Amino acid sequence: MTGDPSSLLQFILRRGETGPEAGTATDAQHAMDQTSQLMEAILDGMQEGLVAIDSNTEVILYNSAASRIFELPPRVPLPRPRLIEISRDPEINDAFRSVLKSGIPEQRRVEVRRRDSRVFALNVNPIGPGSLESSKTGAAGVFFDITELERLERIRRDFFANLSHELRTPLTAVLAYIETLLDGAIDDPQNNVRFLNIVQKHALRMQALVQDITDLSMIESGEVTLHIEVHDLAQIVDEMLVLAGARAESAEVALVNRVQRGFRVCADRYRLEQILNNLLDNAIKFNRAGGKVEILAERNEAGASVIHVRDNGTGVSKTDLPRVFERFFRADRSRSRDAGGSGLGLAIVKHLARAHGGSITVESEQMKGSTFTVELPDCESCQ
Ligand SMILES: Nc1ncnc2c1ncn2[C@@H]1O[C@H](COP(=O)(O)OP(=O)(O)O)[C@@H](O)[C@H]1O
Ligand SMILES: [Mg+2]
Repeated sequence: MTGDPSSLLQFILRRGETGPEAGTATDAQHAMDQTSQLMEAILDGMQEGLVAIDSNTEVILYNSAASRIFELPPRVPLPRPRLIEISRDPEINDAFRSVLKSGIPEQRRVEVRRRDSRVFALNVNPIGPGSLESSKTGAAGVFFDITELERLERIRRDFFANLSHELRTPLTAVLAYIETLLDGAIDDPQNNVRFLNIVQKHALRMQALVQDITDLSMIESGEVTLHIEVHDLAQIVDEMLVLAGARAESAEVALVNRVQRGFRVCADRYRLEQILNNLLDNAIKFNRAGGKVEILAERNEAGASVIHVRDNGTGVSKTDLPRVFERFFRADRSRSRDAGGSGLGLAIVKHLARAHGGSITVESEQMKGSTFTVELPDCESCQ
């Protein structure tokens, strides 16, 4: 927060000494009232919670943000509560007490658990004592909500930890095989081509990973421009199934297009193909010999296109299901990795659906199969 709340508070405190209850309705008093109303409006307009206490730890003032944080009445009730009565948190009480005692500002990270748990950077500053009588010294604490900042920081940290982990495995393999080749295996006709094939496989995996990350970061940051047009979904699915044909055949999985001819969908063609390709790829990959993948479409009451990719493959457990759209999440790491997956496919699909103003959901039962449902908004908007 910018500005020094303690000078405002000193003003408000002093106002209490010569307040309107004294009954001196002079011009000066009137001007002072107006200023104090302005101050209150400013304090209540602050995003940050502000709590001020006097030297006895009695709460003399808080703003609207603080009343929301600590679930307090809009104005300080009488008799005034003690700080400990509005929050029992030892960190908060300790920070204020320490400032009262030492006069030195304190900074703490505090958690406030009410309906949900929120994290705050708390800055406590002394009020006075220079301009106030010693009995009126106090402390003012500003609560800056850092819950979202911390969440984003955690996501960022996890992302880089996952990324380096994902790159380390193929990179280690590439370096090991190159070293073996350089150590003489290059002249071994039994193995040299085989080793080079392994090196290529790992290098391709790294390339796919880098491509997925580039894609994801561009879609997330809104750098991708969509060219929304009306398309015939059945026709697009036909083409996708031809492309996926070889993969499905080697996995012994049947692909069925159940989309009605002429079903209109409003989307960026390339991105819609990317969505369908990712879902198809998963439905084939997490399947079993003799399995089936169907693509269906319907229109909901709002006119949105609702596309289902349904398989009767391995399914996802109840505990893993909420996590499948997270970056790098894979229920079965080795199975996914062997099939060349980076764990980013569904994160990309989720962001692409959102970029279209749509959404994606999943229903799944282990050993029975999964249905991924993409909803893309009404076509009328782009006709
Ligand atoms: N159709 C499906 N059937 C079963 N599990 C699936 C299916 N689609 C996705 N999953 C699970 O979700 C995880 C994340 O999917 P995705 O982001 O596409 O990553 P990847 O395909 O690289 O593993 C997969 O590793 C798998 O555990
Ligand atoms: Mg995938």
